[in-house]
Amino acid sequence: MQWSALTLVLAFSSATLALDNGLMRTPPMGWLAWERFRCDIDCNNDPQNCISESLFTDMADRLSEDGWRELGYVYINIDDCWSSKQRDSQGRLQADPKRFPHGIPNLARYIHDRGLKLGIYGDMGTFTCGGYPGTTLDKVQIDAQTFADWEIDMLKLDGCYSNSSYQEQGYPMMSKALNATGRPIGYSCSWPAYQGGLPPKVNYTQLGQICNLWRNYADIQDSWDSVLGIVDWFFDNQDVLQPVAGPGQWNDPDMLLIGDFGLSLDQSRTQMALWAIMAAPLFMSNDLRTISSDARAILQNKVVIGINQDHLGIQGRRLFKEKTGIEVYLRPLSKGASALVFFSRRTDMPYRYMTSLKTLGYTPGVYEVFDVFSEARLPELKDSTEFVVSVNPSGVVMWYIHPAAYWWKGAESSRFSEKLKGPKFHRYANEADAPLVL
Ligand code: GLA
Repeated sequence: MQWSALTLVLAFSSATLALDNGLMRTPPMGWLAWERFRCDIDCNNDPQNCISESLFTDMADRLSEDGWRELGYVYINIDDCWSSKQRDSQGRLQADPKRFPHGIPNLARYIHDRGLKLGIYGDMGTFTCGGYPGTTLDKVQIDAQTFADWEIDMLKLDGCYSNSSYQEQGYPMMSKALNATGRPIGYSCSWPAYQGGLPPKVNYTQLGQICNLWRNYADIQDSWDSVLGIVDWFFDNQDVLQPVAGPGQWNDPDMLLIGDFGLSLDQSRTQMALWAIMAAPLFMSNDLRTISSDARAILQNKVVIGINQDHLGIQGRRLFKEKTGIEVYLRPLSKGASALVFFSRRTDMPYRYMTSLKTLGYTPGVYEVFDVFSEARLPELKDSTEFVVSVNPSGVVMWYIHPAAYWWKGAESSRFSEKLKGPKFHRYANEADAPLVL
């Protein structure tokens, strides 16, 4: 089947029964503390990096002042080790009073005042993975209400110190409890990661009905090996995972490491490209106060973000795994467009990979191609024309492709009018049909 026909089949077969809270119609984006800052609670000796309200206000300042928010990075998410070791006298969770002296509601206000959203972390079990109070079944309702009272916008519910039957009761129960508060709270479920991530133990139809996103697999660590392990698992299991993603319900391969210590620039582009192909949530876990301009440029690349956020929400697939170590990935996008990624697992030198759009399943025609990371428009390409891409070791070439077409009437006064001054004059039926890049 050609992939354009596949697009329709995939679009109609998935996402019909998403969790009905209306949230996260495109993959959520933001910042999450865990991978970079872990359970550092030593505020006396390490005040800059410990899990405390100033870490989150610092990141909120950066998200709102350094151009992140406008690109869609709006969630600031607390992970483990935020709470006191004891619940309060009424059985409610409470923040550690030393590290969060003004309390979570105050932090939520700070974050909302900057046009951002606040996420928090809990655990469906006796303790969180870090040993803080968990949410046992008898506490589901009170914790949901506490989070709503604090004006929390998203909950990541982990699954340490728990078992499969407990999780089977607890995860749906929390979904109902969150809905019952009347506050829209995005719901991230770690349930499948604790059950091996695959059917029959994991029921993705049910997950789509109760969660907005779910961790399927192991925790990401700050290394290229970890990224490769995650990429392999997700694409080796794409026949199971690809159809279950869609607006309001996303597979979550875990946080972005870009800006940390373990990835080269090529590897960072690879993570960004493949997370966009996967329609993955984009939660950075890095230090936005000190991030390099190279890492920032990757994370703030508008076209890769636009691909990730495509409103059809169709997860992409791996098309080929060549013996040479080159892999090709494709994600169908709205307006007849698509994203292609050529990824090299080689460890020698840039590899010149030759193919044609026809070989990759494109329908006959002429296509416009935009190279996402070099930010260059390439010459128009016929489906049958053979071309060569040069792919760096552990790097990618990513293309945004759309059929060549014409501008719409009145385009002169549109957001694209500047571009009309170029030599080519295109015409689309209306602006809504125009692709992401022109
Ligand atoms: C688990 C989760 C991680 C993180 C830690 C916190 O390992 O998968 O993402 O939340 O717990 O302790």
